[in-house]
Amino acid sequence: MDRILIRGGVPLAGEIRISGAKNAALPLMAASLLTSEPLVLSNLPDLADIATMTNLLAQHGVLIEHIADPAGEAPRQAAELSARRITSTTAPYDLVRKMRASVLVLGPLVARCGRGRVSLPGGCAIGTRPVDLHLKGLQRLGAEVELNEGYIEARAPDGLRGAEIVFPSVSVGATENLLMAACLARGETQLINAAREPEITDLAHCLIAMGARIEGVGSDRLVVQGVAALHGAHHPVIPDRIETGTYMMAAAATGGDLRLVGARLDHVEAVRRILEGAGVCISESDDGMTVRRRNGRLVGTDVMTEPYPGFPTDMQAQIMALMSVAEGASMITETIFENRFMHVPELARMGANITVHGASALVRGVPRLMGAPVMATDLRASVSLVLAGLVAGGETIVNRVYHLDRGYERIEEKLSACGARIERAHG
Ligand code: UD1
Repeated sequence: MDRILIRGGVPLAGEIRISGAKNAALPLMAASLLTSEPLVLSNLPDLADIATMTNLLAQHGVLIEHIADPAGEAPRQAAELSARRITSTTAPYDLVRKMRASVLVLGPLVARCGRGRVSLPGGCAIGTRPVDLHLKGLQRLGAEVELNEGYIEARAPDGLRGAEIVFPSVSVGATENLLMAACLARGETQLINAAREPEITDLAHCLIAMGARIEGVGSDRLVVQGVAALHGAHHPVIPDRIETGTYMMAAAATGGDLRLVGARLDHVEAVRRILEGAGVCISESDDGMTVRRRNGRLVGTDVMTEPYPGFPTDMQAQIMALMSVAEGASMITETIFENRFMHVPELARMGANITVHGASALVRGVPRLMGAPVMATDLRASVSLVLAGLVAGGETIVNRVYHLDRGYERIEEKLSACGARIERAHG
């Protein structure tokens, strides 16, 4: 199993190009199931989760061809996804267990084929993560939903029909699944208390380019007028705001100065506010942003995760690594996922002083962390250990880095190009 070795203490300086957003690319790829015409997606990141979604779609019968990026920049990946004929409406356990976002094929399959069968995603390191909101929404759209031998089976032989769906709590995945399904339902669907993450806005823009009729994009109330069919389109994936925020924190943590090319500051406003409060200078430029730490230590600040536009749960582990070396105390409260503090004992192995009380972690800043062997438990937890390793004295070894490869494109290359002493040990 690969490991990442880091010798910390180097302030990062230089330029990092931000990749396409994994969490935008996954639903966009699933949207290819909605039409018999080709959907071209550019600025796709090269990540394990994208490969898993590619395999899943291929076994549904989608032809996927990697092509030169129509946006012109050669190294960026583009793919043409063509679901002319859907040959299977089943998403098997072997693929779904690798990635929970596989459930995003359910809405498109039922909308296009009148049926879909998706293995229930299993347990997960960051809480129980049910899919009840996805299923209740599909039922509201007229689908019959059953659970059978570990599979969700949804059927709507006469097609879906529009309905008002009020989400009792905000869910990114359920909003995406039902938004896609509603595009081909008969009549009007209203999604109320919908999630507003930039990835959902990106999906809505792509669906509109495919012929969908959606109003309220960017708000928590999406109104969809169903159409009989969607057509092909070309859509560039937005830059990854979680990768952006992570590298903003890498600059802040190491006292460095990084230019993040292609980043969108308007997608990371909540992160920006917290970092500026902690003593980080952030300025927007034509092609992204520049991030550097003002002189001296960072100052501890309180953080609470919330649905967008609040502070993202996917940045909670990283801000904790940062606050571990800030001056003073910070209270970090997780409101989205239970059990998302698996990085705390690992950070503690590196000398961090953190006490967890229920959904809050009290972080008392220490002057320095010490390198240690640590274990990655999930995607964002693992990158928080990389951040900690970048500031720690001595050597940090991050084990189980396959989590990192699910969501961070060429992380060790990007960081070492800015001076970090980081390398991958294979095997
Ligand atoms: C997406 C992101 C993930 C991010 C999360 C929250 C992708 C591929 N993943 O995950 O990186 O951490 O949003 O920003 O985009 N819930 C239910 N019932 C449901 C669905 C969700 O109770 O049917 C709960 C979840 O357990 C969780 C909360 O709602 O507590 C938010 O989850 P949700 O927004 O659905 O997250 P995902 O779409 O799975």
